[in-house]
Amino acid sequence: IKTIGVLTSGGDAPGMNAAVRAVVRTGIYYGLKVMGIRKGYAGLLNGDMEEMTLRSVGDIIHRGGTILQTARSAEFNSEAGVKKAISIAKVFGLDALIVIGGDGSYRGARDLANQGFPVICIPGTIDNDIASTEYTIGFDTALNTVQDAIDKIRDTAYSHERCSVLEVMGRHAGYIALNVAISGGAEAVILPEKEFDIDRDIIKPIIEGRNRGKKHYLVIIAEGVGGAVEIAKYIEEKTDIKTRATILGHIQRGGSPTVYDRVMASRMGAYAVKLLKEGKINRVIALQKGVITDFDINEALQMKKTIDEEMVELNKILAL
Ligand code: F6P
Repeated sequence: IKTIGVLTSGGDAPGMNAAVRAVVRTGIYYGLKVMGIRKGYAGLLNGDMEEMTLRSVGDIIHRGGTILQTARSAEFNSEAGVKKAISIAKVFGLDALIVIGGDGSYRGARDLANQGFPVICIPGTIDNDIASTEYTIGFDTALNTVQDAIDKIRDTAYSHERCSVLEVMGRHAGYIALNVAISGGAEAVILPEKEFDIDRDIIKPIIEGRNRGKKHYLVIIAEGVGGAVEIAKYIEEKTDIKTRATILGHIQRGGSPTVYDRVMASRMGAYAVKLLKEGKINRVIALQKGVITDFDINEALQMKKTIDEEMVELNKILAL
Protein backbone atom coordinates (compact mmCIF):
# COMPACT_ATOMS: atom_id res chain seq x y z
CA ILE A 1 0.00 0.00 0.00
CA LYS A 2 1.48 3.31 -1.12
CA THR A 3 -1.40 5.75 -1.31
CA ILE A 4 -4.26 6.02 1.14
CA GLY A 5 -7.38 8.16 1.16
CA VAL A 6 -9.01 9.55 4.28
CA LEU A 7 -12.55 10.84 4.62
CA THR A 8 -15.03 11.80 7.32
CA SER A 9 -18.63 10.68 6.86
CA GLY A 10 -22.05 10.98 8.51
CA GLY A 11 -22.58 13.47 11.34
CA ASP A 12 -19.46 15.39 12.28
CA ALA A 13 -17.95 14.92 15.73
CA PRO A 14 -15.41 16.92 17.71
CA GLY A 15 -12.04 15.17 17.42
CA MET A 16 -12.47 14.16 13.78
CA ASN A 17 -9.83 16.75 12.86
CA ALA A 18 -7.40 15.28 15.37
CA ALA A 19 -7.99 11.87 13.75
CA VAL A 20 -7.42 13.25 10.23
CA ARG A 21 -4.24 14.93 11.44
CA ALA A 22 -2.99 11.67 12.96
CA VAL A 23 -3.75 9.71 9.78
CA VAL A 24 -1.97 12.26 7.60
CA ARG A 25 1.09 12.69 9.78
CA THR A 26 1.50 8.98 10.60
CA GLY A 27 0.99 8.14 6.92
CA ILE A 28 3.65 10.60 5.79
CA TYR A 29 5.96 9.39 8.60
CA TYR A 30 5.72 5.87 7.13
CA GLY A 31 6.37 7.15 3.60
CA LEU A 32 2.80 6.90 2.34
CA LYS A 33 0.98 9.39 0.15
CA VAL A 34 -2.24 10.56 1.84
CA MET A 35 -5.17 11.97 -0.12
CA GLY A 36 -7.81 13.95 1.77
CA ILE A 37 -11.29 13.35 0.35
CA ARG A 38 -13.85 16.11 0.92
CA LYS A 39 -17.52 15.52 1.86
CA GLY A 40 -17.41 11.82 2.62
CA TYR A 41 -18.45 9.19 0.08
CA ALA A 42 -20.13 11.88 -2.04
CA GLY A 43 -16.71 13.51 -2.47
CA LEU A 44 -15.16 10.16 -3.35
CA LEU A 45 -17.77 9.71 -6.09
CA ASN A 46 -16.96 13.19 -7.37
CA GLY A 47 -13.20 12.72 -7.19
CA ASP A 48 -13.13 15.67 -4.77
CA MET A 49 -9.72 15.04 -3.20
CA GLU A 50 -6.21 16.38 -2.90
CA GLU A 51 -2.89 15.30 -1.51
CA MET A 52 -2.40 16.22 2.13
CA THR A 53 0.89 17.53 3.47
CA LEU A 54 2.22 17.85 6.99
CA ARG A 55 1.13 21.48 6.87
CA SER A 56 -2.37 20.90 5.57
CA VAL A 57 -3.27 19.43 8.97
CA GLY A 58 -1.51 22.16 10.96
CA ASP A 59 -3.61 24.19 13.40
CA ILE A 60 -6.62 21.85 13.29
CA ILE A 61 -6.24 19.65 16.39
CA HIS A 62 -8.27 22.05 18.51
CA ARG A 63 -11.04 22.65 15.99
CA GLY A 64 -14.49 21.05 16.12
CA GLY A 65 -16.27 19.84 12.99
CA THR A 66 -14.21 18.35 10.19
CA ILE A 67 -11.94 20.24 7.81
CA LEU A 68 -12.65 17.55 5.21
CA GLN A 69 -16.37 18.25 5.63
CA THR A 70 -18.93 15.47 5.56
CA ALA A 71 -22.07 14.42 3.72
CA ARG A 72 -24.59 11.64 3.31
CA SER A 73 -24.63 10.24 -0.26
CA ALA A 74 -27.72 8.53 -1.69
CA GLU A 75 -25.79 7.44 -4.81
CA PHE A 76 -23.21 5.56 -2.74
CA ASN A 77 -25.99 3.47 -1.16
CA SER A 78 -26.28 1.28 -4.27
CA GLU A 79 -24.02 -1.43 -5.65
CA ALA A 80 -23.46 0.67 -8.78
CA GLY A 81 -22.47 3.61 -6.59
CA VAL A 82 -19.97 1.51 -4.63
CA LYS A 83 -18.42 0.16 -7.85
CA LYS A 84 -18.19 3.66 -9.27
CA ALA A 85 -16.51 4.86 -6.07
CA ILE A 86 -13.92 2.08 -6.37
CA SER A 87 -13.15 2.94 -10.00
CA ILE A 88 -12.71 6.61 -9.06
CA ALA A 89 -10.49 5.65 -6.12
CA LYS A 90 -8.34 3.69 -8.57
CA VAL A 91 -8.12 6.63 -10.99
CA PHE A 92 -6.60 8.62 -8.13
CA GLY A 93 -4.23 5.75 -7.31
CA LEU A 94 -5.77 4.98 -3.90
CA ASP A 95 -4.78 1.59 -2.48
CA ALA A 96 -6.90 1.84 0.68
CA LEU A 97 -9.35 4.13 2.41
CA ILE A 98 -9.58 5.22 6.03
CA VAL A 99 -13.14 6.16 6.97
CA ILE A 100 -13.86 8.20 10.10
CA GLY A 101 -17.54 8.07 11.03
CA GLY A 102 -20.44 6.25 12.62
CA ASP A 103 -22.47 3.14 11.91
CA GLY A 104 -23.75 4.25 8.49
CA SER A 105 -20.21 5.11 7.43
CA TYR A 106 -19.05 1.67 8.60
CA ARG A 107 -21.71 0.03 6.42
CA GLY A 108 -20.50 2.04 3.41
CA ALA A 109 -16.93 0.94 4.13
CA ARG A 110 -18.07 -2.67 4.46
CA ASP A 111 -19.63 -2.45 0.99
CA LEU A 112 -16.32 -1.20 -0.41
CA ALA A 113 -14.44 -3.98 1.39
CA ASN A 114 -16.83 -6.64 0.11
CA GLN A 115 -16.30 -5.33 -3.44
CA GLY A 116 -12.55 -5.79 -2.99
CA PHE A 117 -11.43 -2.31 -1.93
CA PRO A 118 -9.35 -2.23 1.30
CA VAL A 119 -10.70 -0.10 4.14
CA ILE A 120 -10.09 0.74 7.78
CA CYS A 121 -12.73 2.45 9.95
CA ILE A 122 -12.24 4.79 12.89
CA PRO A 123 -15.24 5.32 15.20
CA GLY A 124 -16.35 8.95 15.13
CA THR A 125 -19.78 10.00 16.41
CA ILE A 126 -21.03 11.86 19.46
CA ASP A 127 -23.59 9.07 20.04
CA ASN A 128 -21.11 6.37 21.20
CA ASP A 129 -23.44 3.84 19.56
CA ILE A 130 -21.00 1.71 17.56
CA ALA A 131 -21.28 -1.84 18.89
CA SER A 132 -17.68 -2.93 18.33
CA THR A 133 -16.15 -0.20 20.49
CA GLU A 134 -16.61 1.14 23.99
CA TYR A 135 -15.74 4.63 22.79
CA THR A 136 -16.38 6.78 19.75
CA ILE A 137 -14.52 10.02 19.06
CA GLY A 138 -16.61 13.06 19.99
CA PHE A 139 -18.59 11.46 22.81
CA ASP A 140 -16.61 13.05 25.65
CA THR A 141 -16.79 16.52 24.11
CA ALA A 142 -20.54 16.20 23.57
CA LEU A 143 -21.00 15.06 27.19
CA ASN A 144 -19.09 18.07 28.43
CA THR A 145 -21.12 20.40 26.21
CA VAL A 146 -24.35 18.96 27.60
CA GLN A 147 -23.01 19.14 31.16
CA ASP A 148 -22.18 22.81 30.68
CA ALA A 149 -25.77 23.41 29.53
CA ILE A 150 -27.15 21.45 32.51
CA ASP A 151 -25.14 23.55 34.96
CA LYS A 152 -26.61 26.71 33.43
CA ILE A 153 -30.13 25.30 33.42
CA ARG A 154 -29.76 24.29 37.08
CA ASP A 155 -28.94 27.87 38.05
CA THR A 156 -32.21 29.15 36.69
CA ALA A 157 -34.22 26.07 37.78
CA TYR A 158 -32.97 26.64 41.34
CA SER A 159 -33.80 30.35 41.26
CA HIS A 160 -37.38 29.72 40.16
CA GLU A 161 -37.90 26.36 41.91
CA ARG A 162 -38.74 24.78 38.59
CA CYS A 163 -38.43 21.46 36.83
CA SER A 164 -36.26 21.35 33.69
CA VAL A 165 -36.73 18.77 30.98
CA LEU A 166 -33.69 18.45 28.72
CA GLU A 167 -33.70 16.50 25.47
CA VAL A 168 -30.25 15.36 24.36
CA MET A 169 -28.98 13.79 21.13
CA GLY A 170 -27.99 10.19 20.54
CA ARG A 171 -30.25 9.08 17.69
CA HIS A 172 -31.56 5.63 18.75
CA ALA A 173 -29.12 5.30 21.64
CA GLY A 174 -29.21 6.59 25.21
CA TYR A 175 -25.51 6.76 26.03
CA ILE A 176 -25.34 10.56 26.11
CA ALA A 177 -28.58 10.72 28.12
CA LEU A 178 -27.51 8.17 30.73
CA ASN A 179 -24.08 9.67 31.29
CA VAL A 180 -25.29 13.24 31.65
CA ALA A 181 -28.11 12.10 33.92
CA ILE A 182 -25.45 10.86 36.32
CA SER A 183 -23.05 13.77 35.86
CA GLY A 184 -25.88 16.30 36.03
CA GLY A 185 -27.72 14.76 39.00
CA ALA A 186 -31.01 14.17 37.17
CA GLU A 187 -34.14 13.05 39.04
CA ALA A 188 -35.12 10.92 36.06
CA VAL A 189 -33.75 9.77 32.72
CA ILE A 190 -35.72 8.23 29.87
CA LEU A 191 -33.77 6.04 27.45
CA PRO A 192 -34.82 4.43 24.16
CA GLU A 193 -33.29 1.13 25.30
CA LYS A 194 -35.62 0.80 28.30
CA GLU A 195 -39.38 0.70 28.38
CA PHE A 196 -40.76 3.45 30.56
CA ASP A 197 -43.88 4.66 32.26
CA ILE A 198 -44.10 8.42 32.62
CA ASP A 199 -46.01 8.31 35.95
CA ARG A 200 -43.73 5.71 37.51
CA ASP A 201 -40.41 6.95 36.10
CA ILE A 202 -40.84 10.73 36.04
CA ILE A 203 -43.81 11.93 38.10
CA LYS A 204 -43.23 9.62 41.09
CA PRO A 205 -39.54 10.51 41.65
CA ILE A 206 -40.36 14.22 41.32
CA ILE A 207 -43.20 14.07 43.86
CA GLU A 208 -41.17 11.91 46.24
CA GLY A 209 -38.25 14.30 45.87
CA ARG A 210 -40.51 17.27 46.64
CA ASN A 211 -41.80 15.48 49.73
CA ARG A 212 -38.19 15.04 50.88
CA GLY A 213 -37.56 18.76 50.40
CA LYS A 214 -36.25 19.09 46.85
CA LYS A 215 -36.90 22.47 45.28
CA HIS A 216 -35.88 21.95 41.66
CA TYR A 217 -35.72 19.00 39.32
CA LEU A 218 -33.94 17.80 36.20
CA VAL A 219 -35.36 15.24 33.76
CA ILE A 220 -33.22 13.99 30.86
CA ILE A 221 -34.95 12.67 27.75
CA ALA A 222 -32.98 10.87 25.05
CA GLU A 223 -33.70 12.02 21.50
CA GLY A 224 -34.65 8.43 20.61
CA VAL A 225 -37.67 8.83 22.92
CA GLY A 226 -38.30 12.52 22.20
CA GLY A 227 -41.32 14.58 23.16
CA ALA A 228 -39.60 16.83 25.73
CA VAL A 229 -42.14 19.63 25.25
CA GLU A 230 -45.14 17.33 25.81
CA ILE A 231 -43.46 15.64 28.76
CA ALA A 232 -42.80 19.06 30.33
CA LYS A 233 -46.49 19.98 29.97
CA TYR A 234 -47.52 16.67 31.52
CA ILE A 235 -45.19 17.15 34.50
CA GLU A 236 -46.59 20.63 35.13
CA GLU A 237 -50.19 19.35 34.96
CA LYS A 238 -49.55 16.42 37.26
CA THR A 239 -47.32 18.09 39.86
CA ASP A 240 -48.16 21.78 39.66
CA ILE A 241 -44.42 22.45 39.44
CA LYS A 242 -43.52 25.01 36.76
CA THR A 243 -41.67 23.06 34.08
CA ARG A 244 -39.64 24.16 31.06
CA ALA A 245 -38.30 22.08 28.18
CA THR A 246 -34.98 22.58 26.39
CA ILE A 247 -33.99 20.68 23.27
CA LEU A 248 -30.24 21.13 23.02
CA GLY A 249 -29.86 20.14 19.36
CA HIS A 250 -26.76 20.67 17.27
CA ILE A 251 -24.88 22.66 19.88
CA GLN A 252 -23.95 19.16 21.09
CA ARG A 253 -22.05 18.42 17.89
CA GLY A 254 -19.79 21.46 17.85
CA GLY A 255 -16.96 22.90 19.85
CA SER A 256 -13.32 22.33 20.54
CA PRO A 257 -12.61 18.67 21.37
CA THR A 258 -11.69 17.73 24.92
CA VAL A 259 -8.23 16.40 25.75
CA TYR A 260 -9.69 12.88 25.90
CA ASP A 261 -11.13 13.17 22.39
CA ARG A 262 -7.92 14.66 20.97
CA VAL A 263 -5.78 11.92 22.48
CA MET A 264 -8.17 9.11 21.53
CA ALA A 265 -8.48 10.45 17.98
CA SER A 266 -4.71 10.77 17.66
CA ARG A 267 -4.16 7.22 18.91
CA MET A 268 -6.88 5.71 16.74
CA GLY A 269 -5.75 7.63 13.65
CA ALA A 270 -2.16 6.44 14.05
CA TYR A 271 -3.32 2.88 14.79
CA ALA A 272 -5.35 2.82 11.56
CA VAL A 273 -2.32 3.72 9.47
CA LYS A 274 -0.15 1.18 11.28
CA LEU A 275 -2.64 -1.57 10.44
CA LEU A 276 -2.36 -0.72 6.75
CA LYS A 277 1.42 -0.55 7.05
CA GLU A 278 1.33 -4.12 8.43
CA GLY A 279 -0.83 -5.22 5.50
CA LYS A 280 -3.99 -5.60 7.60
CA ILE A 281 -7.15 -4.48 5.81
CA ASN A 282 -10.91 -4.34 6.31
CA ARG A 283 -10.60 -3.72 10.03
CA VAL A 284 -12.37 -1.36 12.40
CA ILE A 285 -10.54 0.34 15.25
CA ALA A 286 -12.05 -0.16 18.68
CA LEU A 287 -11.49 0.60 22.33
CA GLN A 288 -12.02 -2.48 24.51
CA LYS A 289 -11.30 -2.42 28.26
CA GLY A 290 -9.18 0.67 27.76
CA VAL A 291 -7.01 -0.88 25.05
CA ILE A 292 -7.07 0.10 21.38
CA THR A 293 -7.64 -2.96 19.24
CA ASP A 294 -9.23 -3.93 15.91
CA PHE A 295 -11.88 -6.27 14.47
CA ASP A 296 -12.86 -7.55 11.06
CA ILE A 297 -15.40 -5.10 9.61
CA ASN A 298 -18.06 -7.72 8.82
CA GLU A 299 -17.79 -9.19 12.31
CA ALA A 300 -17.91 -5.72 13.87
CA LEU A 301 -21.17 -4.93 12.13
CA GLN A 302 -22.77 -8.08 13.61
CA MET A 303 -21.96 -7.02 17.17
CA LYS A 304 -24.57 -5.66 19.56
CA LYS A 305 -24.17 -3.05 22.29
CA THR A 306 -26.37 -2.76 25.35
CA ILE A 307 -26.96 -0.03 27.88
CA ASP A 308 -25.13 -0.38 31.18
CA GLU A 309 -27.79 -1.56 33.65
CA GLU A 310 -25.55 -0.73 36.62
CA MET A 311 -25.46 2.88 35.51
CA VAL A 312 -29.25 2.93 35.12
CA GLU A 313 -29.56 1.64 38.69
CA LEU A 314 -26.90 4.03 39.95
CA ASN A 315 -28.84 6.99 38.63
CA LYS A 316 -31.95 5.88 40.46
CA ILE A 317 -30.05 5.59 43.76
CA LEU A 318 -28.24 8.91 43.38
CA ALA A 319 -31.44 10.71 42.42
CA LEU A 320 -32.95 10.04 45.87
O1 F6P B 1 -25.23 10.87 14.89
C1 F6P B 1 -25.02 12.12 15.42
C2 F6P B 1 -26.32 12.89 15.49
O2 F6P B 1 -26.07 14.18 16.03
C3 F6P B 1 -27.45 12.20 16.28
O3 F6P B 1 -27.30 12.35 17.67
C4 F6P B 1 -28.66 12.86 15.71
O4 F6P B 1 -29.78 12.00 15.81
C5 F6P B 1 -28.28 13.08 14.27
O5 F6P B 1 -26.87 13.05 14.20
C6 F6P B 1 -28.77 14.36 13.68
O6 F6P B 1 -28.47 14.37 12.34
P1 F6P B 1 -28.53 15.69 11.43
O7 F6P B 1 -27.33 16.53 11.77
O8 F6P B 1 -28.49 15.17 10.04
O9 F6P B 1 -29.80 16.39 11.77
